[in-house]
Amino acid sequence: MADKQINGQPEKVAPPQKQYPVVLTGQPALVTGASSGIGKAVALGLARSGADVVVNYIGDATAAEDIAHEIESLGRRALAISADVSKEDEVEHMYAQAIQHFGTLHIAVSNAGLQADAPFDEMTLEQWNKVIGVNLTGQFLTTRAAVREFKRRGPKPDISVATGKLLCMSSVHQEIPWGGHVNYATSKGGINMMMRSIAQEIAPLRIRVNAIAPGAIRTPINREAWDTPEAYNKLMELVPYLRIGEPDDIARAAAWLVSDAADYITGATLYIDGGMTLYPGFATGG
Ligand code: BGC
Repeated sequence: MADKQINGQPEKVAPPQKQYPVVLTGQPALVTGASSGIGKAVALGLARSGADVVVNYIGDATAAEDIAHEIESLGRRALAISADVSKEDEVEHMYAQAIQHFGTLHIAVSNAGLQADAPFDEMTLEQWNKVIGVNLTGQFLTTRAAVREFKRRGPKPDISVATGKLLCMSSVHQEIPWGGHVNYATSKGGINMMMRSIAQEIAPLRIRVNAIAPGAIRTPINREAWDTPEAYNKLMELVPYLRIGEPDDIARAAAWLVSDAADYITGATLYIDGGMTLYPGFATGG
């Protein structure tokens, strides 16, 4: 038992074992923003579950290639493809390459996202457009391209009872307003309504669409919130479970949500946040 204390409680850590109990064999998956953070963990988690994986990235080709090699070392096929998810022609080209390489796709995880924070009255139109472009329009473009492919290919019940599975990476900030991050919170609120509307429309095609809403996960996007003991203790005031999330906490749930084990789930958002959305201030107040 660790004797380090976090806000008066013994330090808690993530489970040591990576457990991937679901089977995605024969179901090629595309993960956007897969060269770091949550996307990287999801790409590896899907591969551990048996899927071949397209590792989408922008910028850091070496990181993406390293992840592709790690996937291959797990015995799966991998293809790293550079594409800016906010650009229609790049997304279309990426899907064409992916489908040519793997024959089809069964799973698409729209994960790519970024923050460009500013006080509201100082936020530039460029900061607004950048975040909406990648986080929201990017998910529109990647889910639309996937649905087109699922429809073209049609059902393959021997591979999966669903014709296709879509997963949108949202955030607790689809629910929790976030001053200083209005563009980001708005993009995540938009993802929530987009995801549910798509889910409603395409459920009859046996295509499932769900979202994960992570809380504070240990990734580069929020490094300043966890990389000093002071910051970590402050962050824990917002997390009743008193530990930060690890990317693998998200990846295990992602693998399950896109598997047939979750077949009756569509239009749902799974909050994975250690209780961040439970109004922690009310544990002692109110
Ligand atoms: C943000 C992180 C933040 C977390 C909890 C995420 O969506 O990207 O920066 O730490 O929400 O507030």
